[in-house]
Amino acid sequence: SWTEANIIDEQVAAIRSQVGGKQVLCALSGGVDSAVAAALVQRAIGDQLTCVFVDHGLLRAGEPEQVERDFVAATGVRLKVVHAQDRFLAALAGVSDPEEKRKIIGREFIRVFELAAREVVSGGDSVDFLVQGTLYPDVVESGGGTGTANIKSHHNVGGLPDDLQFGLVEPLRALFKDEVRRVGEQLGLPAEIIWRQPFPGPGLGIRIVGEVTAARLDILRRADAIARAELSAAGLDREIWQCPVVLLADVRSVGVQGDGRTYGHPVVLRPVSSEDAMTADWTRVPYDVLERISTRITNEVREVNRVVLDVTSKPPGTIEWE
Ligand code: XMP
Repeated sequence: SWTEANIIDEQVAAIRSQVGGKQVLCALSGGVDSAVAAALVQRAIGDQLTCVFVDHGLLRAGEPEQVERDFVAATGVRLKVVHAQDRFLAALAGVSDPEEKRKIIGREFIRVFELAAREVVSGGDSVDFLVQGTLYPDVVESGGGTGTANIKSHHNVGGLPDDLQFGLVEPLRALFKDEVRRVGEQLGLPAEIIWRQPFPGPGLGIRIVGEVTAARLDILRRADAIARAELSAAGLDREIWQCPVVLLADVRSVGVQGDGRTYGHPVVLRPVSSEDAMTADWTRVPYDVLERISTRITNEVREVNRVVLDVTSKPPGTIEWE
């Protein structure tokens, strides 16, 4: 019968027999799938696993710490962190087109991950396996085959070079998202990671309409943190599939804040309810919650003088703005 404990025992045995004494690599994204997959592999083979976390500087407030501190504390995993914020910002300079941003972020991610992988590989025994957080719906969608290594959460990228190919360890291939979360809970992972809402691989890079800069990321991160905190405090985390907060960086409007006239930026709240992200409805967030978010953002994030609500379903609007 299906229980989290059975799944864990079964996968631990399967991973051990697949991997034997070999070394394994895993890219952590901050999301639930890669975290649970890594924790399962860690449970199975301990320090034969090395995790790599590429901090591209496009995560939300607190998320790098969740990986570097809380995930490591919960699992004891060996983690190599690559601080690559400057590299990603330089590559994104001057770029406003959404697909161009995705391509650049995906390409840089692969390059940085490849460098880290080579260091790990040359540092000891050869690394033969890569962990992927592939879920059952991904398997169905892609026709059921196992491909060569590519980084799923950053799709639209080609994958690793030919001389750096790995066998895949995919311990979540039979599971749906809610089952993955239950397994993660059973493995003792932090609630913030397990219940994290879907977040795109290119991160905040595709939630700034316009060029991505350090200053704009900082504004968006502060506004997003307030929206997330208030939605959570209102108990809406399970009702809302995800709530992108989008900075309209190239739009300015006049406002009055504090002592005078301001010429600031709008942020858009995009709370949606969905089963699978293929279709979505805008979530009817209570007015008092919206009011608290709006008041706090415009008081606490000086650069933002307007908070607007997106009331478009999908279709016709996508969930993300880019
Ligand atoms: P859209 O905006 O297409 O989003 O309605 C559907 C779901 O996919 C996520 N999303 C992405 N995830 N890389 C990702 O890993 C991407 O480039 C990307 N674009 C959108 C989005 O957050 C939503 O959950």
